[in-house]
Amino acid sequence: MSETVPAPTDSITLRTIRESDAEGYRACLDRVAAERRYLAFTAAPPLAEVRFYIKAMLQRDLPFIVAADADDRVVGWCNIHVVPPSEHRGGFSHVGAVGMGLDAAWRGQGLGRRMLNEVFERAGRAGIERVELQVYASNESAVKLYRKFGFVTEGVKTRARKIDGRYDDIIMMARLRPPQKT
Ligand SMILES: CC(C)(COP(=O)(O)OP(=O)(O)OC[C@H]1O[C@@H](n2cnc3c(N)ncnc32)[C@H](O)[C@@H]1OP(=O)(O)O)[C@@H](O)C(=O)NCCC(=O)NCCS
Repeated sequence: MSETVPAPTDSITLRTIRESDAEGYRACLDRVAAERRYLAFTAAPPLAEVRFYIKAMLQRDLPFIVAADADDRVVGWCNIHVVPPSEHRGGFSHVGAVGMGLDAAWRGQGLGRRMLNEVFERAGRAGIERVELQVYASNESAVKLYRKFGFVTEGVKTRARKIDGRYDDIIMMARLRPPQKT
């Protein structure tokens, strides 16, 4: 198998997602999902669902950015989803869940860090104080990145995933603003 050659990241722009990005974002999500290693998705959801999700995130002004290459092709995304408040469920509008991914060729060159910086700035403005995530224990580079951003492990679900004959633990992490005392 040939090794992925890193590409220069100067040409990459981080910008708020647009409704017109639905197909490009979905395609990128689908490529990362198809790796069957890093995401709970093994394929992207249908386009109509993706369009609905983007629209809802934009209407609620939640942090959702894409990384676009020089041809404006989506090569990554990072967002923080907050469960919409309802009359049946309250008290969670300060809690968000982060999701992110990059095409393989763009990993390990600082873009993940740039994307997280960007969405955290927006999260603060949106009143999000607690950001949660779940990451596979085998995804060591992502775990390292999250720790650098102040995420702490709150628990581990043992053998929570079994795919292609391999088990993986799920690490549950969270980051509080202001930081929790340890
Ligand atoms: C997770 C992901 C978004 C991180 O983005 P990235 O651009 O690769 O990360 P960065 O280059 O910004 O690296 C930031 C830090 O992560 C860690 N890291 C990144 N790549 C690494 C690698 N190959 N090995 C070890 N640590 C690594 C390092 O701590 C690095 O900090 P440093 O440069 O000071 O050493 C990206 O790797 C990715 O898309 N992976 C597949 C999808 C995925 O895992 N999504 C998250 C699911 S929870």
